Amino acid sequence: MFDLQGKVAIVTGGAAGIGRAAAIQFARAGASVVVADWSVEAGQGVVAEIGRAGGDACFQRVDVSRDDDCAAMVGVALDRFGSLDIAFNNAGVSGPVSRTEDQGLENWHKVIGVNLTGVFQCMVHELRAMKARGGVIVNTSSVAGVKGAPYSAAYSASKHGVIGLTRSAAREYGKHGVRINAICPGVTSTAMADEIAAGSAPGASAALLAATALRRAATPDEVAELAVWLCSEKASFVTGAHYMVDGGLTT
Ligand code: NAI
Repeated sequence: MFDLQGKVAIVTGGAAGIGRAAAIQFARAGASVVVADWSVEAGQGVVAEIGRAGGDACFQRVDVSRDDDCAAMVGVALDRFGSLDIAFNNAGVSGPVSRTEDQGLENWHKVIGVNLTGVFQCMVHELRAMKARGGVIVNTSSVAGVKGAPYSAAYSASKHGVIGLTRSAAREYGKHGVRINAICPGVTSTAMADEIAAGSAPGASAALLAATALRRAATPDEVAELAVWLCSEKASFVTGAHYMVDGGLTT
């Protein structure tokens, strides 16, 4: 169990999947959590769940592709809890599953807007809040951030971008005591994985699992554990890294 007593954490995409699991784990470790998501009902449900378990959390509606929403989200952490120590920039969308030439410019902008520009905008406001006293940021990339992902060009490009952003900012902000890392999940049992499976060719998801050394999908909790570790003092010398949590899919 990690000790995050007295810390304040933001989790984007905190209403479901990996983000929900992380929000619950951060709260269990003692952090006060801003659950940030564009899905209001589900996000409020996570806050209620944390409250029932004796944790401290609030919900903030945010579309991470909107800069004003990202600014407001950081403002809530500061106003309600008094500081910002941890940010897990995890909200993402899968985008179209199609040949690169058919991805469509509108879809391209949508996927890049949420998965890459969204992480950038969150980081800008988080870094301004953190640089005086330090902090930790974890961004969610993907196996598609280190390998090509056929029929998911926009998604893969966005996730490669997240790693470049993470590494560059880590080199800039280390001197301010801010650590910044990325995690790269493989197939994880969430609504997004179901959506990708439904939009892919028959057998494509089974093939991915067959290529995974552990021959199964991760649970959201297994992925969230890595984010929580990176945000804890146990990872005090880790920055600018991207960690695979993919059951051996990319080995
Ligand atoms: P999910 O679909 O279960 O949860 C994503 C959450 O993000 C949802 O609550 C959704 O409402 C929220 N969200 C989406 N767009 C948003 C926006 N513009 N503003 C605010 N909230 C928004 O998905 P999952 O699987 O938990 O995904 C989390 C992250 O993990 C994503 O960045 C995804 O790309 C990444 N990932 C997931 C993998 C998987 O197999 N599930 C594999 C590799 C990476």
